[in-house]
Amino acid sequence: MIVQPKIRGFICTTAHPLGCAANVREQIEYIQSQPKILNGPKNVLVVGASNGYGLASRIVAAFGCGAKTVGVSFEKESENYKRTATAGWYNSLAFDRESKEAGLFSKSINGDAFSNEIKAQTIAVIKENLGPIDLLVYSLASPRRVDPKTNILYKSTLKPIGAPYTNKSIDFETDKIISVTLPPASVEEVSHTVAVMGGEDWELWIDALEKEGLLAPNVTTVAYSYVGPAVTQAVYRSGTIGAAKDHLEATAKKLDARLKAKGGRAFISVNKALVTQSSSAIPFIPLYFTILMKVLIQKGLHEECIHQMTRLFGQRLYTGKPVAVDSDGRIRVDDWEMRDDVQKEVSAIWEKVTNENVKELADVSGYHRDFLKLFGFGLKNVDYSADVKI
Ligand SMILES: NC(=O)c1ccc[n+]([C@@H]2O[C@H](COP(=O)([O-])OP(=O)(O)OC[C@H]3O[C@@H](n4cnc5c(N)ncnc54)[C@H](O)[C@@H]3O)[C@@H](O)[C@H]2O)c1
Repeated sequence: MIVQPKIRGFICTTAHPLGCAANVREQIEYIQSQPKILNGPKNVLVVGASNGYGLASRIVAAFGCGAKTVGVSFEKESENYKRTATAGWYNSLAFDRESKEAGLFSKSINGDAFSNEIKAQTIAVIKENLGPIDLLVYSLASPRRVDPKTNILYKSTLKPIGAPYTNKSIDFETDKIISVTLPPASVEEVSHTVAVMGGEDWELWIDALEKEGLLAPNVTTVAYSYVGPAVTQAVYRSGTIGAAKDHLEATAKKLDARLKAKGGRAFISVNKALVTQSSSAIPFIPLYFTILMKVLIQKGLHEECIHQMTRLFGQRLYTGKPVAVDSDGRIRVDDWEMRDDVQKEVSAIWEKVTNENVKELADVSGYHRDFLKLFGFGLKNVDYSADVKI
């Protein structure tokens, strides 16, 4: 099959198996070009391991620290020569193949991480092949969650809280600046978003692993959050997803207090805004990305997930020194994004940006390039005109 991108709104419905493999390889080559991370973890579970920050965390753990890894994700297999698998499916396949070639244990589990069944399956794999884990990365981004105790289905929404919000956004089908108004979330929508993207499931993973004696005494666990600038506040940090992140951050404090008794620790890492499958779906954020990308590239500060996770592991979590945190106890690898000079330039551009100047003031083509790359398109040394097994 010749696989081409098919874009529907903010998602690409095809993925290129060889392009995804090249994307994983590129990230492995990056971490291998960096100084070895001493004192890194050795037995690692990544929940949300097939894309974005979770995949990059797994690559750094395996190829930067020499860890055995188990990764859980929820991806779709290809359908009978008709439909490609999802990018994350191909990413996990490529990761497992690369790990095997490098002599590193890896096992990718595909299924709903929120369910008791997938927790049990993961625990069985860890018991048999790893023993107690010393790092749990929690990097899920999901639109829905079925509560395993009640079977209630929760759906997350991306809305402001309290009042409607209007601002500029970009329509990537036309590359035009549009005005978007979002209605405020209902009380139920806020609580549903917290049930999906808050910390409840993270804690359930810790409970399940602890019950089976699979947490090393010095276990580290980390989940990812976002803060961002004023221009994204209404829809992000003060919106429904921000309420979920508040819950996730409160869970980190609770887990830290609990794990500390035996020498363990729980962290939130605030990561930078990056084009991933989940973040592309958030209104207003993609326009902010394109402007931010332009400013960071000009300043030599642009990073992708793999660069962020290399800094998180190598310069924050595993330095052998106490971990530097902000006044709310969070690790910050969004430090370059949030630098005063960067944010001043971004907000000045945000005020000025129009249909006429958007391609000049913002990195619109960079956004398209990074978006397609998530699905394995646009990578060097991949022949996209060739027939490929899906
Ligand atoms: N992208 C950003 O700009 C950004 C910035 C800061 C923090 N974060 C946070 O990082 C975390 C990861 O986000 P991302 O952008 O890397 O997302 P992503 O969309 O790239 O990856 C999400 C992962 O979750 C998995 N997943 C989703 N539902 C699942 C389920 N039910 N069971 C098992 N696996 C499931 C997917 O398979 C995938 O591996 C999120 O907490 C997000 O809020 C993202």
